[in-house]
Amino acid sequence: MKNKDGIHIYDNRDLEGIKRACDIASETLDMIDNLIEPGITTLSLDKQCHDFILSRNATPATLGYRGYPRSCCISLNHVVCHGIPGDKKLKNGDILNVDVTCILDGWYGDTSRMFVVGDISLKAKRLIEITHDSLLIGIEKALPGNTFGDIGAAIQTFVEKNKMSVVKDFCGHGIGSEFHQPPNVLHYGKKSSGPKLEPGMCFTIEPMVNIGRPETKILSDNWTAVTRDKSLSAQFEHTIFINEKGNQILTKSKKNKFLPF
Ligand code: MF3
Ligand code: CO
Ligand code: CO
Repeated sequence: MKNKDGIHIYDNRDLEGIKRACDIASETLDMIDNLIEPGITTLSLDKQCHDFILSRNATPATLGYRGYPRSCCISLNHVVCHGIPGDKKLKNGDILNVDVTCILDGWYGDTSRMFVVGDISLKAKRLIEITHDSLLIGIEKALPGNTFGDIGAAIQTFVEKNKMSVVKDFCGHGIGSEFHQPPNVLHYGKKSSGPKLEPGMCFTIEPMVNIGRPETKILSDNWTAVTRDKSLSAQFEHTIFINEKGNQILTKSKKNKFLPF
């Protein structure tokens, strides 16, 4: 069923399906956490994601999606999102986002988090903390009766108060029976603007935050988005479900480890 804004409203049976896809996505990231070390290539991390997802009888949603060639996205340092795993080796001091979307029985679950290699700089650590906290602050506003603008405004206000910038070129999205559905979930905006949240909605919030300017550009591979000023960027993503009382985070880490430190 769709509401008047064209946003899918899911029932509790649908929710059970979406939850199972979300569990596999977050378990994939829990598994990846053990493999992060200097010298490992991002392609080998992708292979581990691929094999893990298949071992759970699910499919990686990104593989073949609009021509995307891999089973996850790995975005290193100044890469904002959609980094394509390849033969680059992780090195001490790197920060990276791994973004996994799984399909199980036709249901989608999408999550990403940051990982760190060895010792990172204080400013990288602060970036990761602010980005993580901005996601949780957005989720706090994801309540029935609030608007999508309330979520975006809360994220933007918090990030800018901390002298960092929110990426405007990419957004969160409705999810469930498809990878990307209405609405676009902006990580900036004005309180009380945009569609109203209702029980049964399922969507991602996935703020990307830059230490420097917010502008991005896409590299010649047509996927990799980087900061124009080469400043470091971070991202965290959860899939959440709106219920009568508030919301439920569907992609929580079973190991209780979402922040990398
Ligand atoms: N998982 C990403 C998201 O959060 C989308 C990746 S699409 C890809 O929406 F094709 F780049 F993999
Ligand atoms: Co994602
Ligand atoms: Co997403």
